[in-house]
Amino acid sequence: MNILIIYDSFFGNTQKIAEAILSGFSPNNKIVLKNVTEVEQNLPEKIDVLIVGSPTRGFRPSPNTLKFIKSIGSKSFEGVKVAAFDTRINLETLKKAAFRYMVDKGGYAAKTILKQLLKKGGEQVAGPEGFLVDGEEGPITEGETSRAVVWAQTIESEIIRITT
Ligand SMILES: Cc1cc2nc3c(=O)[nH]c(=O)nc-3n(C[C@H](O)[C@H](O)[C@H](O)COP(=O)(O)O)c2cc1C
Repeated sequence: MNILIIYDSFFGNTQKIAEAILSGFSPNNKIVLKNVTEVEQNLPEKIDVLIVGSPTRGFRPSPNTLKFIKSIGSKSFEGVKVAAFDTRINLETLKKAAFRYMVDKGGYAAKTILKQLLKKGGEQVAGPEGFLVDGEEGPITEGETSRAVVWAQTIESEIIRITT
């Protein structure tokens, strides 16, 4: 399968999660990992799977991620299997209860990204997934990188299940 993983990252955490996701797919796939700022207007011709990840910033995807999604034509992802992930604050690392409550209630980037990918014709192969970072800038919470590897493996199994 041709797999494209697109990510944005301010402090490097989402990039590391994207790399872990890449490593979770079997090596017989052709996988390209791109920073969202490097993605041209037209995606490569033949993509079977598109995974988009962003840090959650103010309860939403990053501005560059939103800009990318907006720039894509309405039926561009028809026939493409899609999934979305984000990184987000590990609430256990926030001291103030009021802040914890607000962050939790505000929502996260992956849900918004996935909704947009589906709107452009993509076929969902996983629920929106969040990976935790400690505090506002990371590092990645222990165990989350391994969970990202497993998430990719689950996506690959699901694709094999629905296509065979
Ligand atoms: C300005 C700013 C806003 C943020 N907003 C949220 C938020 O609404 N919800 C959340 O869970 N984390 C929030 N975070 C934490 C980010 O999600 C965290 O910095 C990000 O996951 C790190 O990924 P990166 O290293 O790839 O940028 C925010 C961080 C910053 C600096």
